[in-house]
Amino acid sequence: MIRKARKTDISAIMEIEELSFRVPWPDYLFRSIIGSPGFVVYEKDNTVIGYIVIDIIKNYAHLANIAVRPEYRKIGIGSTLIDWCTEFGEKRGASALILEVREKNTSTQRFYQKNGFYIKGIVPGYYIDDNAIIMVKKIR
Ligand SMILES: CC(C)(COP(=O)(O)OP(=O)(O)OC[C@H]1O[C@@H](n2cnc3c(N)ncnc32)[C@H](O)[C@@H]1OP(=O)(O)O)[C@@H](O)C(=O)NCCC(=O)NCCS
Repeated sequence: MIRKARKTDISAIMEIEELSFRVPWPDYLFRSIIGSPGFVVYEKDNTVIGYIVIDIIKNYAHLANIAVRPEYRKIGIGSTLIDWCTEFGEKRGASALILEVREKNTSTQRFYQKNGFYIKGIVPGYYIDDNAIIMVKKIR
Protein backbone atom coordinates (compact mmCIF):
# COMPACT_ATOMS: atom_id res chain seq x y z
CA MET A 1 0.00 0.00 0.00
CA ILE A 2 1.01 3.60 -0.57
CA ARG A 3 0.70 5.99 2.38
CA LYS A 4 2.16 9.26 3.63
CA ALA A 5 5.70 8.96 5.06
CA ARG A 6 6.06 9.15 8.85
CA LYS A 7 8.99 10.06 11.14
CA THR A 8 9.31 6.38 12.07
CA ASP A 9 9.98 5.49 8.38
CA ILE A 10 13.15 7.60 8.16
CA SER A 11 15.63 4.85 9.08
CA ALA A 12 14.16 2.43 6.48
CA ILE A 13 14.11 5.22 3.88
CA MET A 14 17.74 6.15 4.62
CA GLU A 15 18.80 2.51 4.22
CA ILE A 16 17.18 2.36 0.76
CA GLU A 17 18.55 5.81 -0.14
CA GLU A 18 22.11 4.75 0.73
CA LEU A 19 21.75 1.50 -1.24
CA SER A 20 20.41 3.42 -4.25
CA PHE A 21 22.43 6.62 -4.73
CA ARG A 22 26.09 7.58 -4.88
CA VAL A 23 25.15 10.92 -3.29
CA PRO A 24 22.22 10.12 -0.97
CA TRP A 25 19.91 12.80 0.40
CA PRO A 26 20.76 13.51 4.07
CA ASP A 27 18.22 12.30 6.62
CA TYR A 28 17.42 15.88 7.75
CA LEU A 29 16.12 16.60 4.26
CA PHE A 30 13.64 13.71 4.49
CA ARG A 31 12.74 14.78 8.05
CA SER A 32 12.03 18.32 6.85
CA ILE A 33 9.37 17.14 4.36
CA ILE A 34 7.51 14.72 6.67
CA GLY A 35 3.83 15.64 6.46
CA SER A 36 4.01 16.93 2.90
CA PRO A 37 1.32 15.24 0.78
CA GLY A 38 3.79 14.37 -1.98
CA PHE A 39 6.12 12.33 0.25
CA VAL A 40 4.81 8.77 0.34
CA VAL A 41 6.12 5.28 0.99
CA TYR A 42 5.27 1.89 -0.49
CA GLU A 43 4.73 -0.53 2.37
CA LYS A 44 4.45 -4.32 2.23
CA ASP A 45 4.01 -6.53 5.32
CA ASN A 46 4.69 -3.50 7.58
CA THR A 47 8.03 -2.85 5.86
CA VAL A 48 8.90 0.21 3.80
CA ILE A 49 10.32 -0.98 0.46
CA GLY A 50 10.06 2.15 -1.63
CA TYR A 51 9.24 5.86 -1.61
CA ILE A 52 8.66 8.83 -3.84
CA VAL A 53 8.90 12.59 -3.36
CA ILE A 54 6.93 14.93 -5.58
CA ASP A 55 6.18 18.64 -5.35
CA ILE A 56 4.01 20.91 -7.43
CA ILE A 57 5.77 23.84 -9.10
CA LYS A 58 3.32 26.03 -11.02
CA ASN A 59 1.57 23.58 -13.36
CA TYR A 60 4.32 20.96 -13.18
CA ALA A 61 4.52 18.05 -10.78
CA HIS A 62 8.24 17.71 -10.06
CA LEU A 63 9.48 14.24 -9.22
CA ALA A 64 12.34 14.91 -6.80
CA ASN A 65 13.17 11.38 -5.62
CA ILE A 66 12.16 7.76 -6.18
CA ALA A 67 13.76 4.53 -5.00
CA VAL A 68 12.83 0.91 -4.39
CA ARG A 69 14.80 -1.53 -2.18
CA PRO A 70 17.15 -3.44 -4.53
CA GLU A 71 15.72 -6.92 -3.81
CA TYR A 72 12.19 -5.69 -4.69
CA ARG A 73 13.07 -4.06 -8.04
CA LYS A 74 11.66 -5.04 -11.46
CA ILE A 75 8.38 -6.35 -10.07
CA GLY A 76 6.35 -3.21 -10.78
CA ILE A 77 6.69 -1.18 -7.56
CA GLY A 78 8.48 1.75 -9.25
CA SER A 79 5.76 1.91 -11.91
CA THR A 80 3.06 1.80 -9.22
CA LEU A 81 4.74 4.79 -7.54
CA ILE A 82 4.85 6.67 -10.89
CA ASP A 83 1.13 5.92 -11.40
CA TRP A 84 0.45 7.33 -7.92
CA CYS A 85 2.41 10.47 -8.87
CA THR A 86 0.52 10.87 -12.11
CA GLU A 87 -2.77 10.78 -10.22
CA PHE A 88 -1.40 13.15 -7.56
CA GLY A 89 -0.40 15.67 -10.26
CA GLU A 90 -3.70 15.26 -12.09
CA LYS A 91 -5.74 15.98 -8.93
CA ARG A 92 -3.72 19.15 -8.32
CA GLY A 93 -4.16 20.45 -11.84
CA ALA A 94 -0.62 19.79 -13.12
CA SER A 95 -0.26 19.46 -16.87
CA ALA A 96 2.87 17.29 -16.73
CA LEU A 97 5.33 15.42 -14.53
CA ILE A 98 8.94 16.57 -14.82
CA LEU A 99 12.22 15.14 -13.52
CA GLU A 100 16.00 15.24 -13.90
CA VAL A 101 18.08 12.10 -14.31
CA ARG A 102 21.82 11.62 -14.77
CA GLU A 103 22.79 11.39 -18.44
CA LYS A 104 24.95 8.33 -17.64
CA ASN A 105 22.01 6.58 -15.96
CA THR A 106 20.54 5.23 -19.21
CA SER A 107 18.84 2.25 -17.53
CA THR A 108 16.73 4.51 -15.31
CA GLN A 109 15.91 6.64 -18.38
CA ARG A 110 14.53 3.44 -19.96
CA PHE A 111 12.43 2.82 -16.84
CA TYR A 112 10.95 6.33 -17.17
CA GLN A 113 10.36 5.87 -20.92
CA LYS A 114 8.42 2.67 -20.16
CA ASN A 115 6.33 4.78 -17.81
CA GLY A 116 5.35 7.41 -20.39
CA PHE A 117 8.19 9.96 -20.08
CA TYR A 118 10.07 11.41 -23.02
CA ILE A 119 13.35 13.35 -23.18
CA LYS A 120 12.74 17.08 -23.19
CA GLY A 121 16.28 18.46 -22.91
CA ILE A 122 19.67 18.43 -21.29
CA VAL A 123 21.26 20.61 -18.59
CA PRO A 124 25.07 20.52 -18.93
CA GLY A 125 26.95 20.24 -15.63
CA TYR A 126 23.78 19.93 -13.51
CA TYR A 127 25.47 17.29 -11.34
CA ILE A 128 29.05 17.67 -10.12
CA ASP A 129 30.11 14.76 -12.35
CA ASP A 130 27.37 14.52 -14.98
CA ASN A 131 24.82 16.33 -17.14
CA ALA A 132 21.10 16.08 -16.41
CA ILE A 133 18.50 14.80 -18.83
CA ILE A 134 15.13 16.48 -18.34
CA MET A 135 12.23 14.10 -18.84
CA VAL A 136 8.55 14.95 -19.06
CA LYS A 137 5.31 12.97 -18.94
CA LYS A 138 2.24 14.81 -20.18
CA ILE A 139 -0.78 14.42 -17.95
CA ARG A 140 -3.29 16.33 -20.05
C1 LIG B 1 14.35 3.27 -10.92
C2 LIG B 1 13.61 2.36 -9.92
C3 LIG B 1 12.82 3.21 -8.92
C4 LIG B 1 12.63 1.45 -10.71
O1 LIG B 1 11.85 0.71 -9.79
P1 LIG B 1 11.31 -0.77 -10.12
O2 LIG B 1 10.39 -1.15 -9.02
O3 LIG B 1 12.45 -1.68 -10.38
O4 LIG B 1 10.52 -0.51 -11.48
P2 LIG B 1 9.44 -1.47 -12.19
O5 LIG B 1 9.57 -2.87 -11.67
O6 LIG B 1 8.10 -0.84 -12.08
O7 LIG B 1 9.93 -1.43 -13.69
C5 LIG B 1 9.09 -1.06 -14.77
C6 LIG B 1 9.74 -1.38 -16.09
O8 LIG B 1 11.00 -0.71 -16.20
C7 LIG B 1 12.05 -1.65 -16.34
N1 LIG B 1 13.18 -1.24 -15.53
C8 LIG B 1 13.17 -0.93 -14.22
N2 LIG B 1 14.40 -0.61 -13.80
C9 LIG B 1 15.20 -0.76 -14.90
C10 LIG B 1 16.56 -0.60 -15.13
N3 LIG B 1 17.39 -0.24 -14.14
N4 LIG B 1 17.04 -0.82 -16.37
C11 LIG B 1 16.22 -1.19 -17.38
N5 LIG B 1 14.89 -1.37 -17.23
C12 LIG B 1 14.40 -1.15 -16.01
C13 LIG B 1 11.50 -2.96 -15.82
O9 LIG B 1 12.16 -4.08 -16.39
C14 LIG B 1 10.06 -2.88 -16.23
O10 LIG B 1 9.89 -3.21 -17.59
P3 LIG B 1 8.73 -4.21 -18.07
O11 LIG B 1 7.45 -3.53 -17.67
O12 LIG B 1 8.94 -4.32 -19.53
O13 LIG B 1 8.99 -5.47 -17.30
C15 LIG B 1 14.61 1.43 -9.16
O14 LIG B 1 15.39 0.75 -10.13
C16 LIG B 1 15.53 2.17 -8.20
O15 LIG B 1 15.22 2.36 -7.02
N6 LIG B 1 16.71 2.59 -8.68
C17 LIG B 1 17.70 3.30 -7.82
C18 LIG B 1 17.28 4.70 -7.55
C19 LIG B 1 17.18 5.55 -8.81
O16 LIG B 1 18.00 5.45 -9.73
N7 LIG B 1 16.15 6.42 -8.83
C20 LIG B 1 15.90 7.32 -9.95
C21 LIG B 1 16.73 8.54 -9.83
S1 LIG B 1 16.42 9.66 -11.19
